[in-house]
Parts: sequence; C-alpha cells; structure tokens
Amino acid sequence: MNLNKMVANYLRQTEELFGDELYLDSKLESTSKSENPGDELEKFHQEIKDCQKCSLGATRNKFVFGVGDPNANLMLVGEAPGAEEDRLGEPFVGRAGKLLDKILAAISRSRNKDVYICNVLKCRPPNNRDPLAQEVVECEPYLLKQIRIMQPKLLVALGRVAGKTLLKLEAPLKDMRGKLHDYYGTPLIVTYHPAALLRNAGLKPAAWEDFKWIRSILDN
Ligand code: URA
Repeated sequence: MNLNKMVANYLRQTEELFGDELYLDSKLESTSKSENPGDELEKFHQEIKDCQKCSLGATRNKFVFGVGDPNANLMLVGEAPGAEEDRLGEPFVGRAGKLLDKILAAISRSRNKDVYICNVLKCRPPNNRDPLAQEVVECEPYLLKQIRIMQPKLLVALGRVAGKTLLKLEAPLKDMRGKLHDYYGTPLIVTYHPAALLRNAGLKPAAWEDFKWIRSILDN
C-alpha cells in the first residue's frame, strides 16, 4: 500500500472513531476524561470485537482487546497477541506474561490493579510475524481510543517492535530506552519485551532500572 493510501486509511479510521476532532488537536488528553472508563471501554470493546478491517480478522481465534484496571494510570502496550493470547483472548498470558506479572508485582501492581495491558494490534499475526504497516494503520486508532478513554499518566511500550511502531521510527531498542517520549500528548517509555528477558536474563537488571523509573514517575 502506498503512503498516500495509508494516510487516507488512517484518517478514515480515526474519523470513524473520533469525528474530525483529532485533526484539530492531536493531544488526546485535551478531551475530558470519561466519567466511567470501565463502561466506556467495554462498550468500545463490543463495538470493535468483530473487526474485519485487515486480513488478521480471518485468521484470529480471539480478538484481544486488553485487560486490567480501567482507572489505571499506567498502560502497557505490546506489539500483538501471540498464540496463547489468541487462544484465550487476553494479552500477555504466555510465559512472557507470567514474567510480566512478576515485574508488576515488584512495583506493587498487578493486571487487575493500577495497570492496563493491551497491544498495538488486537489480532495475532500468523506465525507471530511483525505487524505490517497496513495492519497498524487499521488497528492503531483502536489503541488511541483506549488511551483517550483511560487517559493514563504513562504509556510503556514493551519491546522494540511496539516502540518503533508507536514512535514511527526505525531505531534499535537501546536508542529508544531511557527517554521520555511523547505519544499524542501522553508520555511514553520504551523498555524490554518480557520475552527478551526470558531469552537473555542478563537484561533483567536494566529492565528493573526502567521499572523503578516508571514507578517513580507514577508516584510523583
Ligand atoms: N507479546 C506481545 O507483544 N503481546 C502479547 O499480548 C503477548 C506477547
């Protein structure tokens, strides 16, 4: 798909979800916070759960909307569901998810308390390949709407693919880590994907530094 077509698709998608508001002000936080984010998120989930905007709609088992505390000030964002997530309909439930739960416990949070977890793509790419640009164009507005409903204080992208997809840059993880980025007005940190920590335990001390920083931002 060429760039013009992708931009046109993106604008069509955001217009469907937000009207023309987003063109006037790209800062999601500038809209007033929902009175009841839990109800609003669930309503939105029901609206989009049968999505067929890209070809992943035909191959998924479950649409993986997101899980957690709708009032959380921390939102974790992975790249896309894997096999277990596709089977169960919940993000980060495989081995990497179990490690993520331990990391969250270390900052006194859990997937039911003070954290919301979701992915850029809501459906599993076959064989866990990276998201395609067109899939991101169709799906990222769903994430934007989740953020707009919840208005978290901080977004954390888990892994290089989630980071580069959200920040629209081609960079190694080491260049994205340790910086406070901006994602449509919400601060964003990029850290290791828990699967990378399973593959290389030597990365865990650096990941822990990131999560201590995350905790300090949330506590201030
Ligand atoms: N990896 C991700 O990026 N997301 C998941 O939900 C699971 C594994």
